[in-house]
Amino acid sequence: MKGIVLAGGSGTRLYPATKAIVKQLLPIYDKPMIYYPLSVLMLADIREILIISTAKDLPAFKRLFGDGKKLGMRISYAQQNAPMGLAEAFIIGESFIGADSVCLVLGDNLFYGQNFTEILKKAILKLDGATVFGYPVKNPQDFGVCVFDNNGNVTSIEEKPKNPKSNYAVPGLYFYDNDVVEIAKQIEPSARGELEITEVNNEYIKRKKLHVQILGRGMAWFDTGSPSALQSAGAFVEMIQCRQGNYISCIEEIAWRRGFITDKQLRMLGTELKNSEYGQYILNLTGEKT
Ligand code: G1P
Repeated sequence: MKGIVLAGGSGTRLYPATKAIVKQLLPIYDKPMIYYPLSVLMLADIREILIISTAKDLPAFKRLFGDGKKLGMRISYAQQNAPMGLAEAFIIGESFIGADSVCLVLGDNLFYGQNFTEILKKAILKLDGATVFGYPVKNPQDFGVCVFDNNGNVTSIEEKPKNPKSNYAVPGLYFYDNDVVEIAKQIEPSARGELEITEVNNEYIKRKKLHVQILGRGMAWFDTGSPSALQSAGAFVEMIQCRQGNYISCIEEIAWRRGFITDKQLRMLGTELKNSEYGQYILNLTGEKT
């Protein structure tokens, strides 16, 4: 399975914070926002990753990750010229995806919770069509929202409905078989001029191939597109990290624990960052302190 992180958009809801810096590189507490969705792909054992962003912002992502080799991954980059919608990722990424299945994660989504790795593994192992998630929120009108029948099956997903039929939002993490490329090419732009991921999901529903997995209340999901959501996510990460001493979405740690990199490579990564608490955390993982 391949992985795509979509890190485009103009971030206007965060202006002026994002006038000169792309949203997905703003810090959530102690690390760039994109570390959080990237770590989701890594936890799913996906090592071949495409980062999609604008021409203006791609150089910054390249500075951050290079070709991914240091993390034991293969990271490549592609350009989205205009914010044409999430589903365009599969058109831009067509040759990258090839004949594979693909997981799309949005560059501003943060997930955290017990058993999350198991949930991801199950989604990949059992993938037959598409798997998306449902998560209860207080403001469903801001998201793609599940419509359920009396048996609890999802009959459709509505994109930012004025009158949501449930409080289950669909987070920005989607698993698809290879059909997604053809489906993305067929859908029409919505009223806001975008190729909506919700349209892709509704097509899978039509084909009886969409599996919606409900995430329980023990999971945390943040979409960090507004100043207050960004602040809440940062406070959450600080609280967990300071309380437990375990870091959320430390990509170097995940690469090491998954066996993508050796102890020696981890130490080198930690040494590069040794002046920060983050770097010291990495060095402590291998029992080395400077
Ligand atoms: C997008 C999707 C929406 C989804 C959300 C998750 O919304 O269109 O269906 O629920 O991401 O973060 P956007 O961030 O484009 O407003």
